[in-house]
Amino acid sequence: MATEIRPGPRPPVKLGQRFAEIYGDADGLAMALAPGRVNLLGDHTDYNDGFVLPMTIDRAVYFALRRRADTLVRMHSLNFAEEIRYDLDQRPEVPPGAWTSYVTGTVEELRKRGLVGAGFEAVIYGDVPLGGGVSSSAALAVATLMALQTLFGFTLDGVAAAGVCQQVEHRYAGVRCGIMDQFAARMGRTNHALLLDCRNLSYNEIPLALDEINVVIVNSGVKRALAGSKYNERRIECQQAVDFFRQFDPAVKALRDVSADLLENHQSALPGKAGKRCRHVVMENQRVLDGAALLNNHDFATFGALMEESHASLRELYEVSCPELDALVEIGLETDGVLGARMTGAGFGGCTVHLAEPGAIPQLKERIARIYPRRFKYKPDVYVLTRNLQAGPVEFD
Ligand code: GLA
Repeated sequence: MATEIRPGPRPPVKLGQRFAEIYGDADGLAMALAPGRVNLLGDHTDYNDGFVLPMTIDRAVYFALRRRADTLVRMHSLNFAEEIRYDLDQRPEVPPGAWTSYVTGTVEELRKRGLVGAGFEAVIYGDVPLGGGVSSSAALAVATLMALQTLFGFTLDGVAAAGVCQQVEHRYAGVRCGIMDQFAARMGRTNHALLLDCRNLSYNEIPLALDEINVVIVNSGVKRALAGSKYNERRIECQQAVDFFRQFDPAVKALRDVSADLLENHQSALPGKAGKRCRHVVMENQRVLDGAALLNNHDFATFGALMEESHASLRELYEVSCPELDALVEIGLETDGVLGARMTGAGFGGCTVHLAEPGAIPQLKERIARIYPRRFKYKPDVYVLTRNLQAGPVEFD
């Protein structure tokens, strides 16, 4: 199914003006955006060849740029008030995970493929919370790619583009992430969630009208400091479980292939925590498939119950939650009209996502603002999604 690229909205800062302040004028400027994402169901399933159900949010990274006659690359981040400058053919060493690793990594991957052959100068601004579990890094890589595609006019299929941005994360940021975030940032569509099969990258767009049901994102304020190492640790545990199951069934290539029966028969013999991890993945995949059908039927109450189960599983079996996320989920679930709540993304901090009837929002906000700071030192941020963006070129006035 092709995702049509429509011009996005104007960025929340005057990017053309800022560009002119930095580079003299704003003639010949192109711009693109890529949004952050929230995952409604299916965490830690993507790198197990499983299913996920993310949607984009209304926060994005905006990338304005113009071609140069030489091979100099200049990229200026307004968020970090920093600029990186280098010759296109000599990508500098930058700290893995820094903003510069995503932008230079994306440029490098496109240069290697022969898609970018000239220098350019750029200004970047994003309003996706950093380290907040809503994929600011995927938005940054995808926005870089979309902006370069807009400027240089090369052809690159959206699914392939998501794959390039995933490689950027692996090679330049040092996190062996799955494909969900980059895929959602690149392929997610306004007024839809995405059901993605992470094995073959086939997907379905699931209509989701944000005036019918509210999606609320709450940032716990806990930064995902250890996410990288713990995340890679979970991947190793999953691989151990795959190796174990292959003794019984050589067709098992990933945890996606472990049936409920196979799991029941052998779970107790799995080493260490691999059995718990595996149980989460097997059950979570089924929840995603069931959840997508429920969304299609507008059965938000049953979908909400799956979100609750998913959170319990991420907390108890996959062990990637934390007390702050658990508290936000609990506060949500105890609020009238909130149908479901769970942590979203990698975990260890970041955000929760809540599905709520429109009338429930004031009470949800009030309860979070009152109860959460009494227990934790963080100030929670609550965003009610009123729309969700899609990646693509942005038009100037
Ligand atoms: C991070 C990764 C994704 C995915 C989630 C957990 O966001 O980038 O690939 O694994 O964690 O679902």
